[in-house]
Amino acid sequence: MGEGVSVKTESQVLDSLLAKNCNVAMACGGQGICATCHVRVLEGHDSLSPPTSREQRSLSLMTGRCSNSRLACQAKVLGEGVVIEIPEGMYIEKAEDLMSLVGRRTKIPILHPKDGRVLIRKNKIITRSKIAQLEDEDFDVMGVRASSEDV
Ligand code: FES
Repeated sequence: MGEGVSVKTESQVLDSLLAKNCNVAMACGGQGICATCHVRVLEGHDSLSPPTSREQRSLSLMTGRCSNSRLACQAKVLGEGVVIEIPEGMYIEKAEDLMSLVGRRTKIPILHPKDGRVLIRKNKIITRSKIAQLEDEDFDVMGVRASSEDV
């Protein structure tokens, strides 16, 4: 579990996290269509803007979502007392990202950037065969937008 971070009023949650040097991947560049800025709201849920339909759709596709999940790039802080938690894990953009870690044990879970799924659990050894299995995964975050526009 990550630790709670207080965020500033009148900003996107993401802006506050970046200002505090929190490590937040932004695979879609803040368009609300990926999982890489997923956070959990520990306190002050009512002080955030309500989720947009785009955010709701993206959250609905995420496997690790909770009732207090939000996308940091979409949630605007409207009041005081907001404390959020960044879920533990590292998002990858492609299977090859793990090649330099072959033979090492994961210190944190390896996560899918589209739906937040755990690809490799914490404390598991990264092997070439595991990476080969991941090569069939669709890591194209921007493809989520293209497919939603087709509907
Ligand atoms: S950066 Fe992709 S949803 Fe927020």
